[in-house]
Amino acid sequence: MKTAVLISGRGSNLQALIDAQAEPGWPAEIVLVISNEPGAKGLDRAEAAGIAAAVINHRDFDGREPFDRAMTEAIETSGAAFVCLAGFMRLLSDGFIDHWHDRLINIHPSLLPAYKGLDVQQRVVDAGETEAGCTVHFVRPEMDTGPIILQARVPVLPDDDADTLAARILLQEHVIYPQALRLIAEGRVTVEDERVLMNSTDVRRQT
Ligand code: GRF
Repeated sequence: MKTAVLISGRGSNLQALIDAQAEPGWPAEIVLVISNEPGAKGLDRAEAAGIAAAVINHRDFDGREPFDRAMTEAIETSGAAFVCLAGFMRLLSDGFIDHWHDRLINIHPSLLPAYKGLDVQQRVVDAGETEAGCTVHFVRPEMDTGPIILQARVPVLPDDDADTLAARILLQEHVIYPQALRLIAEGRVTVEDERVLMNSTDVRRQT
C-alpha cells in the first residue's frame, strides 16, 4: 500500500514507520514525505532512507484549501493512495479530509476521546491523571476525532513532568503506529458506523 507521510518537525513517528518497512513482507511502502516546514528534521530522515521528500510550505498559499489541494496533488502524483499524519501541525480542510476519507490516519498522544488538542502531556500531569497513552485513528473533520484503530496505555508516575511523560508515550506511539498501518495495509481494518472492525484473531486493541 503506497503511503504518504505528512510531517512538520522531528519525525520520530515517521522514523518508526520507515524502520518497520525494513521487515520482510511489510505491506506498506512510504513513497513520499511532505513537510509544511522547510527545516523539519523528518525531511533528513526521509532523505537518509532514500524516500522522496517535498516541502509544501503553507505560507506560500492563500489559505487552507489551496495548500491542501497542492498536497493532494503531490500525494496523488507520487502514486500514494493512503496518508499518515505524523506530527503534522496544520489543521486540514474538510475538503482534504473528505477526499482521503478512511485513507487518512493520525497519531495523537492521548487516550482519545480524552485530551484532544495541544499540550496534552502537561494537561495530563496537571490533572493528576494516573494513566495516559496514545491513539491511532482515522481522521474526521473535527480535530482529534475519528474511528479508533489502536491505543496503548502508559502509567503517569508521581514525579513525571510533561517531558518524561511525553517520552514514555512516544515509545508506545512508535509501536502502535506501524502496527496500525500494517493492519490497514493487510486489509484487516474496516470502518462501520464510525467504529473500527478488526478482522484479526491475534491483534487486539491494547486497552
Ligand atoms: C507525537 O507526539 C504525535 O503523537 C503528535 O505529534 C508528535 C510528533 O512527534 N501528533 P514526531 O514528529 O513523530 O517525533
